[in-house]
Amino acid sequence: MNIVLLGPPGAGKGTQAKVLSEKLSMPHISTGDILRQNVSRGSDLGKQANEYMEKGELVPDELVTTMVINRLNEPDVQKGFILDGYPRNILQAESLDKALHSKKKDLDLVLYLDATEPVVVQRLSGRRVCGQCGANFHVTNMPPRLDSVCDNCQGALYQRNDDKKETIKKRLKVYLQKTRSLIDYYRNKSNLSCVSADEDAPVVLDKIMNLLKK
Ligand code: AP5
Repeated sequence: MNIVLLGPPGAGKGTQAKVLSEKLSMPHISTGDILRQNVSRGSDLGKQANEYMEKGELVPDELVTTMVINRLNEPDVQKGFILDGYPRNILQAESLDKALHSKKKDLDLVLYLDATEPVVVQRLSGRRVCGQCGANFHVTNMPPRLDSVCDNCQGALYQRNDDKKETIKKRLKVYLQKTRSLIDYYRNKSNLSCVSADEDAPVVLDKIMNLLKK
């Protein structure tokens, strides 16, 4: 099954994708995670991407699309994947369609996580990420057992640069300007399902699992 998770920053795409990936035994492909790994490695892609990410802007399509297509060619995704953070605009959606069609594949489900602005702002401003294993926490919604320490690997937790107030505002603006139109794009292709995502993560997960059973 090939799934795309769509929704504003902070809707919970990464949180749900991680659990779904385990439950469905399918790889979770997060463009944000791959880009951040490149930034911390100091690769050419990371250096080019970082100036856009820091400002809350989209990384140029050609960089991200090449990165995603390379990932989709790897053996572990041939039986299905959960794509989180791509596509982000119509051009990326068309590139994804083309890449999948060339392999005689299609998207089975585009899951739109519909979360409201006050909720996503609260989630993003309180998010903390483990610098070692990448696990996500939230200072109030999903606090770690020990302050600023990862439950899984004891790594130090940090706040993402783009989770600062001004950059959150910019990311939401970019979402409204460039990404939200994908809801209609996929609705017209009849593979869009919408899940309201303001509730706690386990409640949202239940709704997704029920939808997948249909
Ligand atoms: P990316 O990392 O993809 O950021 P995003 O889309 O803005 O998504 P987030 O990771 O912020 O939110 P999420 O929906 O995954 O929420 P999460 O589960 O983490 O991209 C970062 C940057 O990379 C972009 O700005 C851009 O520059 C670049 N980029 C990436 N892809 C690109 C592309 N295709 N094209 C161009 N540029 C690209 O949850 C957030 C917080 O809320 C966490 O603390 C979590 O614990 C908490 N939480 C989650 N769900 C719940 C819940 N139900 N209840 C309570 N708390 C919750």
